[in-house]
Amino acid sequence: MKKIIIDPITRIEGHLRAEVEVDDNGVAQEAYVSGQLFRGIEIILKGRDPRDAGLLAGRICGVCTNSHFRAAVSSVEDAYSMKIPKNAEIIRDLMAMVLFIQDHVVHFYHLHSLDFVDISSALSADANLTSKEAHKYSDKPFRNSHSHYEETITKLQNFVDAGKLGPFSNGYWGHSEYKLTSEQNLILLSHYLEALKFQTKISKAVAIFGGKTPHPQSIVVGGITSVADMLNPERLNDYLFVIKEAKEFIDRAYLPDAKLLASAYRDDIKAEVGRANGNFMSVGGYEFEGEQELFSSGIIYGHDFENIQEFDESKITEEVDRAWYKVNGKAREGALGCKGSEVCYTDLNEDGSLKTQNNDDKYSWIKAPRYDGKVMETGPLARVLISYKKENILIKSFVDEFLKDTDLELIDLSSTVGRNATRAIETAYICEYIFKLVSRLIQNVKYYDTDTWTKYDFKKLPKDAKGRVFLEVPRGTLSHFVNIKEQKIENFSVIAPTTWNATPKNFDGVRGAYEAALIGVKIKDTSKPLEVLRVLHSFDPCLACAVHIMDMKGTDLSRYKINSL
Ligand code: NI
Repeated sequence: MKKIIIDPITRIEGHLRAEVEVDDNGVAQEAYVSGQLFRGIEIILKGRDPRDAGLLAGRICGVCTNSHFRAAVSSVEDAYSMKIPKNAEIIRDLMAMVLFIQDHVVHFYHLHSLDFVDISSALSADANLTSKEAHKYSDKPFRNSHSHYEETITKLQNFVDAGKLGPFSNGYWGHSEYKLTSEQNLILLSHYLEALKFQTKISKAVAIFGGKTPHPQSIVVGGITSVADMLNPERLNDYLFVIKEAKEFIDRAYLPDAKLLASAYRDDIKAEVGRANGNFMSVGGYEFEGEQELFSSGIIYGHDFENIQEFDESKITEEVDRAWYKVNGKAREGALGCKGSEVCYTDLNEDGSLKTQNNDDKYSWIKAPRYDGKVMETGPLARVLISYKKENILIKSFVDEFLKDTDLELIDLSSTVGRNATRAIETAYICEYIFKLVSRLIQNVKYYDTDTWTKYDFKKLPKDAKGRVFLEVPRGTLSHFVNIKEQKIENFSVIAPTTWNATPKNFDGVRGAYEAALIGVKIKDTSKPLEVLRVLHSFDPCLACAVHIMDMKGTDLSRYKINSL
């Protein structure tokens, strides 16, 4: 048995470590995934005015800023049983939807695609053949001219000649597990560069209603502040223009690339590479019309698609058996009642590896959320499977079309490549949903419903209250819990999507989604474990979001010493 250690795993938002034990054939037999960064944003929230929760919680992450911002404000509104005006909800949804598109595109091209795309091979592509290849996956491929591909090759050649691969550095170039042809590599490389421009443009759409991005500022307890933007047709047009451009990139580049990948890595999909344990969770949400929501809620156990259970928040628990915390009592009382824990950082083994030999060895800063005692996978794959099987009319046709074009079955999506496909499918139907939301907003405003804030007198609100919110955000299910005492935040708790997916084991030894997805993966060259990166990156890890702690007694949780010259 040989141990492979990779640290850090991600291209941004690092601090994720994986230790994988492989047998003599290089097949992974055991895996330990660890969050390496200690954080404690919730402590900063203690003693604060609940109306400030959003701005502070938004700092939990530099990527998922708006998700935490909104969730924290909504949890306070829930504590006060406050209903917000329809317009405010639509504006919040319009900001959130853009984030789904931005996150998914950036994740695929800039954080993950180089696990599949061999940049060095693109240099030998034929520009004419590349144009033809792109037509296999789209009737109207994005920037598909011969001259554009020639320019892209020249650009890459310049990087190579300068001795630096710049934005493409640190790939396992030439690895035999890269399966794309030179022409396919060139298509993806071209879109990688186009997606850099896309990033800038799409950010504008969040800023139009958020004031700025990252860390938008326009959501307040009771509603929103971007009233002038909402009532200005020019601003709405600017927003729609960005979305129309985004839709073009998604329809002509992102979705076709997901199909290209599904075709080139078909053997991996059919071999179930990257499949976790088949437990999926979605809380649904984002109202469409009446009862219909953009995402359906539900629970799937062990890929049993025909018996989807209702989501029940009371079944959520958080445990820390194998996370670096000391527990005061048993932390099995549900997220709101989770007893405070003291930090208990365990030393590493002498060789620098994590201590994992014993059933109670601690190896991560990430806590272990469970649903009905079970590990769950959350994210686009969970949402697509649950929504599709619940006959969600907004989603069904997009999934059907993808499966038909790639000749795949629904179960095939439960894999590394499938996880990426669901992200691309999701962005396509989110664009459609955005257009519907904007029409709804225009209709409201036209009929003189211009409410954006629910008036309240803070002094007259209950002194003590408890609130919570469950939201689907790009990486999966996010929940915020707030306890308010004497009109100050007494306690704040977060379970982020990556906390679910990157959970460590508990005493029962059951692997979380990341760890389960690695078991059985064959690693051809243990000095270049490309296959491990692929599996883990397919979940879109966000470690800044994942690590959360609480201490009810207000004691020091950790002290840092910074060495300076
Ligand atoms: Ni994050």
